[in-house]
Amino acid sequence: MENNNQTAMPRIGDPAPEFKAVTTQGEINFPQDYKGSWVILFSHPADFTPVCTSEFMTFASMEDKFAKANCKLVGLSVDGLYSHIAWLRTIKEKIEYRGMKNVEVKFPLIEDITMNVAKQYGMIQPGESSTKAVRAVFFIDPKGIIRTIIYYPLSLGRNFEELYRVLIALQTADAFSIATPADWQPGDDVIVPPAGSCGSAKDRMEGKEDMKCYDWFFCTKKIDKETVLKTVLKK
Ligand code: BEZ
Repeated sequence: MENNNQTAMPRIGDPAPEFKAVTTQGEINFPQDYKGSWVILFSHPADFTPVCTSEFMTFASMEDKFAKANCKLVGLSVDGLYSHIAWLRTIKEKIEYRGMKNVEVKFPLIEDITMNVAKQYGMIQPGESSTKAVRAVFFIDPKGIIRTIIYYPLSLGRNFEELYRVLIALQTADAFSIATPADWQPGDDVIVPPAGSCGSAKDRMEGKEDMKCYDWFFCTKKIDKETVLKTVLKK
């Protein structure tokens, strides 16, 4: 698909740029095919490289965990389809790494030799490499809106437990109209929106609401882990 705005960097809150692509699981129409689900669109620099191999094995091993949180995975590199197929076959048949073996990558891996998609999503960052995508991660919500963007350089493998934490935190913030503090994990206290009037600031400081206030603008409340997980995870 032609794109006239190939140098644009998408932003949080933007609709995910649309594209059609060939993948290891057939053609996809993005993000339309994913409406109703969260989706993580991520890029990697190249097939048959060690950091990327460790990442794919880790992400593929966690695919069910993401699926239970209504999230699908879609990978991309600027390699071609046959390279992708050969690399994924090698991973499944030959690579044993940190207790993972026979790992089958079932999520689609986009071929993007033209760099059309990579450029639409700001994945080509010439200061790092003009021939490979950086390690980009886009969290896109069920309405097709970009909700979080994280970029890593070529040398840095991602922490997939952190990506899972981000997904659950986004869903928890949506479901309970709260925010999540530094290092939040399900079961930790969450942050309630700041008081909107002098009266409610006073009530909060006097302990009239079911919250813990560190000051009038910084109040937290409990949402237990079970409630969080029951809300965001499919049965
Ligand atoms: C890697 O995945 O190992 C890698 C890819 C490109 C540059 C550096 C490392």
